[in-house]
Amino acid sequence: MPVVVITGTQWGDEGKGKVVDVLTEKANIVARYQGGHNAGHTVVIKDETYILHMIPSGILHKGTLSIIGNGTVVEPRNLLEEIDGLREKGIEVSGDNLLLSKGAHLIMPYHLALDAGTEKKLGKDKIGTTGRGIGPAYTDKMARRGIKAGDLLFPEIFREKLEKNLAYTNAVLEKVYGIDTFSVDAVYNEFMGYAEMLREHISDTGVVLGRALEGGENILVEGAQGTLLDIDHGTYPYVTSSSASAGGAAIGLGIGPTKISNVLGIVKAYTTRVGEGPFPTELNDDLGAHIQKKGGEFGATTGRPRRCGWLDMVALRYAARVNGLTGIVITKLDILDGIDEINICTEYEVDGGRTADFPNTAAELEQCRPVYESLPGWKESTAGVMRYEDLPEGAKQYLKTIEKMLGVEIQVICTGPRREELMVLKNPF
Ligand code: IMP
Repeated sequence: MPVVVITGTQWGDEGKGKVVDVLTEKANIVARYQGGHNAGHTVVIKDETYILHMIPSGILHKGTLSIIGNGTVVEPRNLLEEIDGLREKGIEVSGDNLLLSKGAHLIMPYHLALDAGTEKKLGKDKIGTTGRGIGPAYTDKMARRGIKAGDLLFPEIFREKLEKNLAYTNAVLEKVYGIDTFSVDAVYNEFMGYAEMLREHISDTGVVLGRALEGGENILVEGAQGTLLDIDHGTYPYVTSSSASAGGAAIGLGIGPTKISNVLGIVKAYTTRVGEGPFPTELNDDLGAHIQKKGGEFGATTGRPRRCGWLDMVALRYAARVNGLTGIVITKLDILDGIDEINICTEYEVDGGRTADFPNTAAELEQCRPVYESLPGWKESTAGVMRYEDLPEGAKQYLKTIEKMLGVEIQVICTGPRREELMVLKNPF
């Protein structure tokens, strides 16, 4: 009963979608455990590009069951648009291959208004959210006034919860933010429409996963965002509002932690970050701009340019510990082709001394300066290379150095956006 968790080790956008897509060949089920449509997973198959925000990329494989778990937050209109988009491209989506947990919380229209209002109020101190209502939806969940996907199936309960919620939220919108309030009737009617369309997908996914585990099926568990955006372990408050690291997988799907057999950390060959917050290895120069352009580092959800920088071993060692990584996947190696000298941050300089420990607070991280070890780059192209032996010496040395510094085995290396542009050194299932 192997359960393999795929988790981002940086600030998201590590290329998880493609890895999940490829490993899905060995999986019976692909399940997503947290986050919402703030995520953007890009998968290129032949000449078709699929950008998925909410639906696990397992949906692109016939015969695989995709599950959106209880730990996620779901905006129904967006989910329905994503389903329609897939159908238009000839992908079959039905209650047979896509299930939404009854326990997933709904992102309501007022969550979007609250997200925008909060960011506006924060002004220069804003988080730089994706504006998808993620934080407010999780706030309602924790404050125990959230509405779950399962509530869509019971109109009276849904209405009652909505009335209670809006009695509070409308007061906040009006008095704190000075923005328009929401009518119970309008939201109720809109969501009852979604309920009809989503009915076939809404299910007790914990039961489905439990049976699959008993039956010895392979389950691929997909995280969104990354460890450094995790609500507990990330650079708080510049984080997302869910448990993006591997620990979130058990909670967000309702499977016990002892059932997880492997945790595969996705590591982009360099580092990127979208939104605000400290980033010690950021390159605010021509090289940073080069990596951004060559790597297509623009948000799949918001289109915002991603900040780019060198690989940060302090952060990666931290991610290895927090996630209990059993292996890593290196993505976008080819983007570093042709760079003369490649830096890896090994320690931080702070308060006149050095540390190899990732600090607990964003304020402390802000003070850290990177200490680099330099490696010679490589001139040859690694784009599309599919055998380790065919990689240039410089690239091999870079990979070996990462593996040695991290103490975690590299199991997969990606050299391009297409499904086939990768090498699997060890199968995680
Ligand atoms: P939120 O998740 O929309 O609340 O945004 C909080 C922070 O997480 C912001 O810095 C976003 O840019 C970042 N973020 C959220 N989702 C992603 C993602 O999928 N990739 C990268 N950054 C993300």
